Amino acid sequence: MPELDDLEKQFTEEWPGVCDAGALQSLKDRWLGREKGLLSQEMRKLATLDREARPAFGGRLNQLKEQFTQLINELSKSIKEKEEQQRRLRETVDLHLPGKPWAVGHVHPLLQVKDEIEAVFLRLGFTLFDTPEIETDFRNFEGLNIPRDHPSRDSQDTFFLNDDYLLRTHCTGVQIHAMMQGQPPMRVIAVGKVYRRDNPDATHSPVFYQCDGFAVGKNITLGDLKGTLEAALKELFSPDIRIRLRPSYFPFVEPGAEVDISCIFCSGKGCRICKESGWIEILGAGMIHPRVFEHVGYDPEIWTGYAWGMGIDRIAILKYGIDDIRLLYENDMRFLSQF
Ligand code: DAH
Repeated sequence: MPELDDLEKQFTEEWPGVCDAGALQSLKDRWLGREKGLLSQEMRKLATLDREARPAFGGRLNQLKEQFTQLINELSKSIKEKEEQQRRLRETVDLHLPGKPWAVGHVHPLLQVKDEIEAVFLRLGFTLFDTPEIETDFRNFEGLNIPRDHPSRDSQDTFFLNDDYLLRTHCTGVQIHAMMQGQPPMRVIAVGKVYRRDNPDATHSPVFYQCDGFAVGKNITLGDLKGTLEAALKELFSPDIRIRLRPSYFPFVEPGAEVDISCIFCSGKGCRICKESGWIEILGAGMIHPRVFEHVGYDPEIWTGYAWGMGIDRIAILKYGIDDIRLLYENDMRFLSQF
């Protein structure tokens, strides 16, 4: 019965290639299927054979059927075991694996600098004073001796809410708040957001942070201002920096000055960042103008004081080498997570 021997040979070649449940089902259908299975087809040939030939053919066919069924059953068992094993492997929890790290939040770079500045001035004996972001014309301008025709009072530069209220353009109004509420002597700082009608670009933002501070007492001098700022700026940047005061004009101080630090990038030798000057401008300052004292009802013959104001963004930019102020306000996690 060479055709049955061929079938056996064919099956023997096929089954070892079967390695999953799907392929096994195909193998089973192809060989043992009731209608179209290869063995059923052979079985149908039985009727066409001579009487004497039938028992031997039938016997051999039955033996093949039994043999194939047994092999397919064994294959089925081993495939099931293998799949079960794989499933277990997939589902096992490996308690030795390290856990997934939690993304821990942290303080925004601007607020880190703000916290640092506050800590420095608190150590120097200043107290924190909170002032509102919505200010009156008097506290933002008039009381600070900013004349009616000063450009910063222009609606092109300031966000006015109505005739009486505006978004503060600086934190300097803290002088009016604190002096009207308290009694001298006093040393106060205020930190917060200020608003200006600027179009955003690499160096301008319509909102940014400032820190203003002032001291009022008897016999307070420009020397006190310089000593205080020098101590604070050395703490903020590095003990090696030097500072210098350049005469400048602000309506609420007389004399007024711009304060520079020696360049932190080239130690004052001259580089791209300090435009080869060796100095970086860091804040505005001066001695409180007698007219400011008059506005808050302090006698300028008795009281003197100094004041300064600085941009926190500018300090953050210098400290961290950031080249675009907008990065500080866009809340892009790729940027923020570096701090
Ligand atoms: N208010 C000023 C500004 O926004 C900064 C400033 C300069 C504050 C001089 C002061 C000062 O108290 O004395 O640019």
